[in-house]
Amino acid sequence: MKIITLENAAQIGEQLGRYYVDFVKAHPSCVLGLATGATPLPTYAAIVKAFQAGEVSFADVTTFNLDEYCDLPKENKNSYYTFMWQNLFQYLDIKKENVNFLDGNAADYDAESRRYAEAIRAAGGIDLQFLGIGRNGHIAFNEPADAFTDEPFRVALTQSTIDANSIYFDDAPMPHYAMTMGIGSIMRSKQIVLVATGESKAQAVKGMIEGEVTPRLPASVLQQHADVTVYLDKAAASLLG
Ligand code: GLP
Repeated sequence: MKIITLENAAQIGEQLGRYYVDFVKAHPSCVLGLATGATPLPTYAAIVKAFQAGEVSFADVTTFNLDEYCDLPKENKNSYYTFMWQNLFQYLDIKKENVNFLDGNAADYDAESRRYAEAIRAAGGIDLQFLGIGRNGHIAFNEPADAFTDEPFRVALTQSTIDANSIYFDDAPMPHYAMTMGIGSIMRSKQIVLVATGESKAQAVKGMIEGEVTPRLPASVLQQHADVTVYLDKAAASLLG
């Protein structure tokens, strides 16, 4: 794991946004794995700024988002579909048909999981995967568990995640289930960047980097990936030895 510690979230956004722009310029037909939550927002803002300055095109880029809530209309402001269009895709020249999400309202969750896994494979796999991290060490919606997961699946969210994310749900109850890429789907990405900012992530970050590899702290599995870069602000890095 390569660790880059910067002063704050804004600096990470600038640096990582620049990395994405250079990556897409070098690989115009790349496949990006994308994340939601507060963490990626500064990076997405930097990407949009560079696009608007005419520096880069996303016309041939394909994306796969990590996860989506179940039982929430995709038009709801808290769906990850809406989040991605509002914060990133609407500003870019990306083609709608190249944007991929898990369907949290699928009639058959197993069939939907297989469809997504197959779509990732058909696209040639994920070249560069963005990850945030939950306070309990989850990545995507892979919650602490007895074993590492593999392909996409439907997950019951833990109380820690419900508490962290329910602040956004002022107009509808927070879903207790989600569809998520599995740990295997994430680990098969060729390159991974994980960003953690803020003091609330410090304990999970310490476990991820310095702890044993365990499904009880899902992000710890990244120690076994050959190409991971972790971007931390000072607060998220504060417990590292
Ligand atoms: C969410 C998402 C994750 C995200 C994490 C942290 O529940 N499913 O993909 O990385 O929790 O979110 P935030 O960046 O808002 O702290």
